[in-house]
Amino acid sequence: MEQFLKNYGHPGWDQWYDALEKLVKDKRAYLDSAGGNFKKFKSVVEKLPEIYPHSVDLSSRAVSIGQSDQLLPDEKDRLYKGLVNLCPWRKGPFDFFGVHVDAEWQSWMKWERLVPHLPSLKYRKILDIGSSNGYYMFKMAASDPTLVLGLEPQSAFYYQYCAAQKYLNLKNVFCLPAAYNELPAMNRFFDLVLCMGILYHRKSPVKMLKKIHDSLVPGGQVVVENLVIKGENNYCLFPFDRYAKMRNVFFIPDLSAMEAWLARAGFSDIRCVDITGTTLTEQRKTDWIQTESLEDFLDPEDPSKTVEGYPAPVRAIYTASA
Ligand SMILES: C[S@@+](CC[C@H](N)C(=O)[O-])C[C@H]1O[C@@H](n2cnc3c(N)ncnc32)[C@H](O)[C@@H]1O
Repeated sequence: MEQFLKNYGHPGWDQWYDALEKLVKDKRAYLDSAGGNFKKFKSVVEKLPEIYPHSVDLSSRAVSIGQSDQLLPDEKDRLYKGLVNLCPWRKGPFDFFGVHVDAEWQSWMKWERLVPHLPSLKYRKILDIGSSNGYYMFKMAASDPTLVLGLEPQSAFYYQYCAAQKYLNLKNVFCLPAAYNELPAMNRFFDLVLCMGILYHRKSPVKMLKKIHDSLVPGGQVVVENLVIKGENNYCLFPFDRYAKMRNVFFIPDLSAMEAWLARAGFSDIRCVDITGTTLTEQRKTDWIQTESLEDFLDPEDPSKTVEGYPAPVRAIYTASA
């Protein structure tokens, strides 16, 4: 991230520079001294075998790094155990030197729904809020953007990203172990912001969208992927307690409310480009997660409902311009 500041910021010129530099320093100091999971996962990544991949494929469904014949049996064993120790792998799949990490989500399915609606990524500056292990950042890196910055506060996912970057070593992809509210206002900086799977976790979704709007260059694009409910009545579902066993779900808008949020945040040219119900093909339990998955979140008698009796998850992708 120090490289990010060096390449893209100008001390004394960009008003966000000092605040971002401080955040980067604070996070570095935190990662150097943290205990708990951050310390545990950091040491896992440090112990992964040092191998230079002979090939990298960011265009196929699995982010693929190196080939299995590059590894000695002992290295393969260490790599496999290290990757297992970084569980749960929610987003993927990844292929590390022939070790196939079959993540809970088949993230290529969302990528394939999204990609026809993305602008050209070449020479673009992109922010991915809630980037998880970087699956979408790596897919975007294949199109030669100037930079992709991810934000991922959860230790396992941040260090999964670090594990992939240990081998990919992509110079235009960065990630901070930070939440979006920690990022200083970088007004008119990004060409594209991805906000996928985040907004329903926010108590003030419009406030977040406004900050995203202001961080985009004029004409820049946002991609918002969010849980939605059917209908166009400007209603939101506000779960009494949990939604699909998640405690931290607040507003799930219908299609009109989602559009109204984007308009109120200042966006124009608002388009709903995809609406897809989440299936057991896209989100399912694999050997790479130990927790429950979609089938445990749905009513076994009526899978059109969550266990709480709310409509089962449906996600929509919106694009809009600043
Ligand atoms: C549902 S996942 C979505 C991941 C990915 N964007 C996708 O669409 O597949 C939400 C991710 O956002 C992260 N996250 C949660 N709150 C966040 C925040 N305030 N700022 C940035 N990331 C956040 C979580 O740790 C998690 O990895």
